[in-house]
Order: sequence, then structure tokens, then C-alpha cells
Amino acid sequence: MAASSFIKILAPLRGVTIRTFRRVFAPAIAESGFTEAITPFVSAMPGVDPLKDREVSGFEPGVTVQFIGKDPAALEYCLERIKSIGYRTADLNCGCPFPMVRNKGRGSGLLRTPDVLGRMLESGCRVMGPGNFSVKARLGVEQNDELLRLMPLLNSFPLRFLTVHPRTAKAMYEGECDMAAFDRIREAATIPLICNGPGGQMIGRPFVRSLGERADIMELLARYVEESRAELCGEKPVLGRLKELLSYWREIPYWSRRWNLVKISRSLAELKLALA
Ligand SMILES: Cc1cc2nc3c(=O)[nH]c(=O)nc-3n(C[C@H](O)[C@H](O)[C@H](O)COP(=O)(O)O)c2cc1C
Repeated sequence: MAASSFIKILAPLRGVTIRTFRRVFAPAIAESGFTEAITPFVSAMPGVDPLKDREVSGFEPGVTVQFIGKDPAALEYCLERIKSIGYRTADLNCGCPFPMVRNKGRGSGLLRTPDVLGRMLESGCRVMGPGNFSVKARLGVEQNDELLRLMPLLNSFPLRFLTVHPRTAKAMYEGECDMAAFDRIREAATIPLICNGPGGQMIGRPFVRSLGERADIMELLARYVEESRAELCGEKPVLGRLKELLSYWREIPYWSRRWNLVKISRSLAELKLALA
């Protein structure tokens, strides 16, 4: 079942499409027709208050909070906390491919533990209410039919939607998306589906890349530096954040000439010179 065609979601990119990015680049996000954003993942860990995470330190309209974890009670606590400040939707990360994460049963690792996944979905749908909890998943950890085999379980919950990034965890972030495997999921799904692949309704890196071509990019970038400096402690994390963003533009002729200097910059002053 296709999700409403009116939805276009900015993908969660940890370290990139973060709260400050969403605020500074809001005009570009709106111009591109995004109707909402999903936050990069926030940990749902026992005893940890998610409101201490700057991603969700205050209510942000048009935003769905994504959690990563495997403890249903911790997830319930986190969901209650974000609801208390106004959030109405939340998402579960079933896609993070990093071995450190998935081998502990989190992220894409949840695809290998259907009983835990089922309890997480039950908690999510109960606390957020029917139609307010969603899932973002890969095709599988190693095989492209692992998610497909879980469709009866996923279909049995009143999910807002299931987003599919049509790669396995093993494939990480590169290589062709497996659209044939996505089509098989579409046939099996009775819940709304969002594709995070070619022509899909969730877009991450292509949008971030496109920012490098904007006429007003220097102004936006200056604001991003300024707001990041106000938010972070010291220059190093600001520099790291900027290099991460600028790396998306290194194929664009204007930026590619500057990228070699950008990547070796050790201070914001050096970075400024590299961009001059
Ligand atoms: C640097 C980076 C960070 C990411 N962080 C997250 C995350 O926190 N949660 C998540 O569900 N997916 C995350 N993803 C996956 C993206 O949301 C998306 O599924 C993937 O990049 C494919 O879509 P795209 O080609 O449109 O970017 C991340 C991807 C990258 C490259």
C-alpha cells in the first residue's frame, strides 16, 4: 500500500540533518517540498532521559523523533517523555547497519530478533496511538528477503508507515538500490510504505548535495557556523560538523577546488581561508 502522495520526508542523517541544520536550512527544506523530517536516531536506553538529547530538547513542529534501541520499557519511557513536550509521532530505527549496533540487536539487528521487534512495535503503537508510530528498515542484514519475511508481523500493527531503504545492512550506503526486492515488499505490505530509494518519498543525501548549488549557500553556511558555535563547546566539534556537510559538495566544481583545503583545516579561521 502506497503512503499518501502528499508526504515527502527529509531522511535522518546523523551528524548532518540535525536540529540546527533543520533550522538554518529550513527555507531550502520547505522549497524542496518536504512536508516533514525524521530526526537522526536518539538512543532509547533504560534510565536515560531523551529530552537531554539536543535533537529533542524542545518541541519542533513537522518533526518525527526516531529512536534506536531494543528495550520496550525504555522505548515506552522515551515516547512518554517526547509526548509530554508535544511530539505526536515517533519512528523506530530498524536500519542502522554498523556491526557494533546490529550485533547488539539494535538498528538492523532488530530484523534478526522478531520477538523483540514485535514487542517494540507493540510498545510504540500503544504509547503513540494507532497511526502515529512508524518504522524505518533495510531489506535485511545480509539477505534481501529478511524484511519481506517479517511483513506478516509488521502488517499486524497499526503503523503510520514503513520506510524501506532498499539495501541490506551489509551493503551499507553504496551500490544500486534493490528495487525488485522493494517491489516484493510492496506486494506484501498492507500498511503504508515509503521508499527511501530512487523516486521515493524519503530523500537524504541527494538533498544535502543539492544545497551546495544554491545561490544563497554562503549566507546559509555562515549562519550554520554561527549557530553551531553558539551551541557547541569549542571549535573542534564545529569544524567536524562543517567538514561533514562540506564533504557532500566535493563533486561540485566550485567546492571540489576548495575541498582539499577544507579537509585539512584545523581551525575555523583556516576553514574560512579555504572557502575564500
Ligand atoms: C551519515 C549518515 C547518517 C545516517 N543516519 C541515520 C539515522 O540516524 N537514522 C536512520 O534511520 N538512517 C540514517 N541514515 C540512512 C539514511 O536515512 C538513508 O536511509 C540513506 O542515506 C539512503 O537514502 P539517501 O540516499 O536518500 O540518503 C544515515 C545515512 C548516512 C549516510
